[in-house]
Amino acid sequence: MTDRPRFDLLLLHARIATLDPERDAGYGLIEDGALGCIDGRIAWIGRSDDVSPQTREQAARVVDAEQHLLTPGLIDCHTHLVFGGDRADEFEMRLEGADYAAIARAGGGILSSVRATRAASEDDLLAQALPRARDLLADGVTTLEIKSGYGLDLQTERRMLRVARRIGDALGITVRTSFLGLHALPPECADDAEGYVAEVCDRMLPTLAGEGLIDAVDAFCETIGFTPAQVRRLFDQARTLGLPVKLHAEQLSDQGGAALTASFGGLSADHLEYLSEDGVRAMAEAGTVAVLLPGAFYALRETKLPPIESLRAHGVPMAVGSDLNPGTAPMRSLRLAGNMACTLFRLTPLEALRGMTVHAARALGLGDRGLLAVGKRADLAMWNARHPAELSYWIGGRLNHRSYVAGRPV
Ligand code: NIG
Ligand code: FE
Repeated sequence: MTDRPRFDLLLLHARIATLDPERDAGYGLIEDGALGCIDGRIAWIGRSDDVSPQTREQAARVVDAEQHLLTPGLIDCHTHLVFGGDRADEFEMRLEGADYAAIARAGGGILSSVRATRAASEDDLLAQALPRARDLLADGVTTLEIKSGYGLDLQTERRMLRVARRIGDALGITVRTSFLGLHALPPECADDAEGYVAEVCDRMLPTLAGEGLIDAVDAFCETIGFTPAQVRRLFDQARTLGLPVKLHAEQLSDQGGAALTASFGGLSADHLEYLSEDGVRAMAEAGTVAVLLPGAFYALRETKLPPIESLRAHGVPMAVGSDLNPGTAPMRSLRLAGNMACTLFRLTPLEALRGMTVHAARALGLGDRGLLAVGKRADLAMWNARHPAELSYWIGGRLNHRSYVAGRPV
């Protein structure tokens, strides 16, 4: 190091997995690494040996990482963690033989969470959601996406999105919100799907976007959700409002949702168990991220695997999310999703880690994080681990040693 920068934070003696493709095609490891932050960004990264005594002296704060593994903070790019109540009763019903779609048709499933969410106040929802968000943070997450979609009316969707924003403020992390008004048909519109779609597209979306509550627009494109034509109408409105789109696509059947999303230059198509070869190609061309959600696959005891080999062959970036939700993925650990992505979907541990960092950032349209390089945000996770493969190898347990968001300890 030639000049003498004054770092706000200087981390020394870490085993750094930068994930920076400019270093190598793997983890981008730096042994006995050091990292200096200024104004919440990474200002320098290299070997501890190369940090001069003067630089150490001038740093506002120096931390000896004692050879702990350091990675980018994890990014959970797909959660529904704001909701009222829980669905442990349906878990029990499924174990007694009922299936997810049948429970949904009988007015349970998403709609039972809608009832509980509508009944909860904003403070109530916040109090219920915060511990879930804290669990993700305790597991190394420093950026979160949170969807609405358990309100299905203007005021409850607004309440959910406001709670999502408040979670970001309360925890000092970035929360990206996705408006999921087309998640299910609310009971009051059971016989008027088109009317509800119009309400979502023409009133809820523009209103909530105008209130600054929406970062992206999502929908559930499925036989038990919304048709591609209805989703297209929503996406047209999102485009008019300048909002990026993403989609719950091909989770239970092939609706061509991923290709539709790609045709709008969508950020991501998520789930994808029933994705076709055409869908993969469309995603590859558009640069749409494939968000894999092995927690839902696992909880639904799905047997059809997403077409991992084909996604890989076409160079579609694969992210991994928790899908934390009360129905199909009561999963409060992103690392566990990474483990499942490896064991169930056969991702490599490197793919899983990229899926929880750099590709997850891309699925949220965030270019400033997800890998450790000069100029990126200093969102960091330090681990009680030596090798990055351990992050998806261990099942459960407390692996996170500490994390930093924009250079500040959380
Ligand atoms: O990502 N697929 C639709 N949405 C959620 C499930 C929501 C629920 O069951 O409450 C999902 O799996
Ligand atoms: Fe989901």
